[in-house]
Amino acid sequence: MKIRIMTIIGVFACLFICSASIRADGDPPAGQDIQLSPELLDLLRAEMREISTGIQGIAVSLATADWGSVKQTSAKISASYIMKQSLTPAQANELKQALPEQFKLLDAEFHRRADRLGAAAEAHNAELAAFHYSRLVESCAHCHARFASQRFPGFTRAHEKEHHH
Ligand code: HEC
Repeated sequence: MKIRIMTIIGVFACLFICSASIRADGDPPAGQDIQLSPELLDLLRAEMREISTGIQGIAVSLATADWGSVKQTSAKISASYIMKQSLTPAQANELKQALPEQFKLLDAEFHRRADRLGAAAEAHNAELAAFHYSRLVESCAHCHARFASQRFPGFTRAHEKEHHH
């Protein structure tokens, strides 16, 4: 008798633990955004705003075949790198710890695409430049969808739809 009660308790305990872990797995990806101290987050946001201004300007430069400007802004975007800002050693260390490998990969891809856009501008190749411009914007979206879903909830909804329907 005692054994059966222990078995039943065991089964319930397992059900409880298992369902709890399933629920945790099914949570929206909000908790997967990168966690930074307020100071670093401010730096990252300031850099993002600068990149944003650059990328908007490039659209007009492409439309007017202003290759010098496309080249210059691409180079600026490519050189902008949060990890190269004037960080204190403690902040540099925090970034190294806080940024997951995938963030660094997406960031590297982003910089590669900015370089390709610059090269297309150098060659005065309008079609190729437009192509690399669209790829560059796409890489903004990739990183935001993965690491800024709280800041940009539009990505979260698309992600949830994908998984729950
Ligand atoms: C490797 C990752 C990554 C890439 C690439 C990236 N971003 Fe971001 N961006 C972020 C993260 C993370 C945040 C959210 C910071 C926060 O939590 O507020 C952000 C925030 C922003 C913001 C909001 C800034 C603010 O003031 O709050 C803008 C605008 C932005 N990004 C524009 C861009 C544009 C435009 C591009 C591409 C040209 C780009 N980002 C590429 C990671 C990235």
